[in-house]
Amino acid sequence: MGRLVVLPHRLSIRCRQFAAPRENVFAALTRAEHVVHWMRTHALRTRLAKGYALRKRLMNRVGNRKAPASSRKKDDMPNSYDLHGKSAIVTGGAKGIGRAITELLVASGAAVWIWDAKPAQVSGATSEIVDITNSASIEAALSRMPGVEQPDILVNNAGYLGKTQGFVAHPGEDWQRILAVNLMGTMRVTQAVLPRMLRAGRGRIVNMGSLAGKEGLAALAAYSAASAGVIAFTKALGREVSGRNIFVNCVAPGPIDTDMIRDLGTAVVDAMIADSPMKRLGSAGEVAQMVAWLCTDASHFNTGAVFDMSGGRARY
Ligand SMILES: NC(=O)c1ccc[n+]([C@@H]2O[C@H](COP(=O)([O-])OP(=O)(O)OC[C@H]3O[C@@H](n4cnc5c(N)ncnc54)[C@H](O)[C@@H]3O)[C@@H](O)[C@H]2O)c1
Repeated sequence: MGRLVVLPHRLSIRCRQFAAPRENVFAALTRAEHVVHWMRTHALRTRLAKGYALRKRLMNRVGNRKAPASSRKKDDMPNSYDLHGKSAIVTGGAKGIGRAITELLVASGAAVWIWDAKPAQVSGATSEIVDITNSASIEAALSRMPGVEQPDILVNNAGYLGKTQGFVAHPGEDWQRILAVNLMGTMRVTQAVLPRMLRAGRGRIVNMGSLAGKEGLAALAAYSAASAGVIAFTKALGREVSGRNIFVNCVAPGPIDTDMIRDLGTAVVDAMIADSPMKRLGSAGEVAQMVAWLCTDASHFNTGAVFDMSGGRARY
């Protein structure tokens, strides 16, 4: 006769004697599976019940207020990085995504220079007024950086959304500025900084693209084109300098909760949230996490790559 022993505390089944008739073993196994299944669901129910009770107590304590999805804070993430001894330039670091990137790089130990058209106040970072559409402004700021082999990191983040309207009616002045800031500004800054990285034999460049550049957005033709240009520039440059210990990557966010998006108005923002598989905007802190990781030595098999940050919105 065979004996089947079920050890519930381990959720495992052991057959002590293998000489048992097969049908007895199968019957016992089936019963054992039922027991294990019941125990699992019972344990799960108990855990869920405890979770609900705790949630109810907490909700009562905070007056049952539910924060809107868009304002829920996602920035309290435990990850930090070791960037001690590294220097970084973050363009457009005065606010929004650039500010979150600057804060995380500073918290990770990097010396950060913010290059922005507006003055920036980020604790631990140096603020430089730089217009990235102007080569003289870029060169002047670069000459003020200590050491001719700095920076180790360049984050090309400064951007301008421009008007959202059909292309036929889009004033030339505005769509040319979109290209001048987002695409040509990125190229200008990179062209100024890259020789230093080549001389130093190391470097990390992260360019801020957009989901618009991958998919194209109606009423944002120029912004989409500029962003697609940033993506192509990243791919080409990544290949060009691969093997020189310089890594060039692009992050392509979907709608992120910054002034750039909020300025579009509540109706547009609500439509974006409704269109999002996660039913919320991303946070600047979430984008910063991806950018910071790309700036570390831990990321060394990615170059010329495009990383989506779209909450599942990107379709390819
Ligand atoms: N917010 C989003 O949903 C979103 C989505 C995809 C991509 N992006 C991209 O991310 C980047 C940051 O976006 P954000 O939402 O934080 O924008 P933001 O408008 O909040 O900040 C942009 C920053 O760039 C600076 N800037 C603009 N023109 C400049 C110039 N000529 N020289 C120097 N600095 C200049 C501004 O002063 C500002 O500090 C942009 O490149 C944007 O295109 C944003």
